Amino acid sequence: MLARRFLSSASSPLAPTIRQLLLSPPPPPAACVAVNGWVKSIRRQKKVAFAVISDGSSDAGLQAVFTDINLAKNLTNGASVRLQGTLADSPGAGQEKELKVSEVEVLGECDPERYPMQKQALTVEYLRDHCHLRARTREIGAMLRLRDSTTRAIHGYFEDNGFIHVHTPIITSNDCEGAGETFRIAPSSSDASTSSTSDAKPSEYFNHPAYLTVSSQLHLEAVASAISRVYALSPCFRAERSQTSRHLAEFWMLEAEWAFTSSLTELCDVVEHAIRHVLRTHAASPDMDALWKQHPAATSEAKRAELQSYADAPQPWTRLTYTDAVDVLAAHHAQTPGGAFVFPPAWGSSLQSEHERWLADTYVRGPVFVTDYPAALKPFYMRLNDSDRGGKERQTVACFDLLVPGMGELVGGSLREERTGLLEAALERHGLDKADYAWYLDLRRYGGAPHGGFGLGFERLISWMSGIESVRECIAMPRWAGRMLL
Ligand code: 4AD
Repeated sequence: MLARRFLSSASSPLAPTIRQLLLSPPPPPAACVAVNGWVKSIRRQKKVAFAVISDGSSDAGLQAVFTDINLAKNLTNGASVRLQGTLADSPGAGQEKELKVSEVEVLGECDPERYPMQKQALTVEYLRDHCHLRARTREIGAMLRLRDSTTRAIHGYFEDNGFIHVHTPIITSNDCEGAGETFRIAPSSSDASTSSTSDAKPSEYFNHPAYLTVSSQLHLEAVASAISRVYALSPCFRAERSQTSRHLAEFWMLEAEWAFTSSLTELCDVVEHAIRHVLRTHAASPDMDALWKQHPAATSEAKRAELQSYADAPQPWTRLTYTDAVDVLAAHHAQTPGGAFVFPPAWGSSLQSEHERWLADTYVRGPVFVTDYPAALKPFYMRLNDSDRGGKERQTVACFDLLVPGMGELVGGSLREERTGLLEAALERHGLDKADYAWYLDLRRYGGAPHGGFGLGFERLISWMSGIESVRECIAMPRWAGRMLL
């Protein structure tokens, strides 16, 4: 019997994953490799059996070939296995290497009669109901790897541009956006509430109402007033009632904040550069390809090319003021027999998703920054524009939303009001208690610098990049109103 030489890496205590095995230089012909994974499919012929084994490390599993079909007799879909054998060039199409199996160990059996993840196409609803098992599907596996590679690309971009990654609190005392969509939190047992020395109500563990954060922005502003360029990629929580393909109750937001900027153009430039960087990094992503391939070929190729064209566009993405956007929307509405929109566009009203989609999909046919919205539509912290001529009713703020085709709003950001007096007036206009924001006002009083930032919905980015229809399939365990299974 040939002496066995197992492949191992001197630099890692772990055996290589299937992806690492497939990417690494070919092992010596007699080298025995061990592969751990789950059986994705099994095909038995008279004298040979084939199984596809996946450990989730890549979209492509590894084809295992059993020339002794007895070795494959206990294999079923979903079973976890450890296989040993030698890697060889694969004669089959679409797979460079295959494993010629010499030993099989079934680590965890899987009853094929009862296994909920049968091979036939499983509907999105069925998979939502089997959330704990759905990471085993090709689509959710590819999405999870795409989240990972997108996260790494984002960190790369901000590191290259001198930003520091910070961790902001999840438990907060404020509703940053002022939209009343916070989840209030309290201890589950009254024993865990405040100590007897406190005169707070027993239910107030923190001696103050506490909420799950809706945005890291205000805390990022505090850090950015000392460490001038910061960003966070954190979970955010919103008690959203909207049951749409773009809204979750728990989602992840990329937020960046930096000091020493007074330029809305600079804010938009950073957003645009960061997204272009992420798209370019994924130009040859097998996971993105696998996800787009779920659509008809013509659509998937065209969409993939379209995304790359945004990454490589020679001109900056279109920028349009809110006022101009309302004008073109209103003109289109008026020119369309019966009206183009359910909600007639009007200055002073929010842009509805039908307006956002039309601007990006039809009018611009690409990403578009809509800037300078009416102050009355936006949160208290946005910087008032100095140059408004239309009086108080037409007052606008230095902000933007980035709208992208097929999705609508992907990013929102603004310059922050750094002038203490104007910020106090804004708090008052929004009915907010100045005492609650004393710390936020301090940031202006003590060496306040002009600054700004933005927030990007991470699941929306994944949905836009991959063609996955709903953000509910862009996160491992989605939560939305009326639904939380595990
Ligand atoms: O426009 P929003 O509400 O902005 C903020 O929260 C700012 N404080 C961010 C900042 O400037 N630091 O949210 C930013 C983005 C939206 O453009 C959207 O992509 C995403 O967060 N988003 C959601 N994504 C999924 N589910 C929800 N319920 C979301 N709400 C917002």
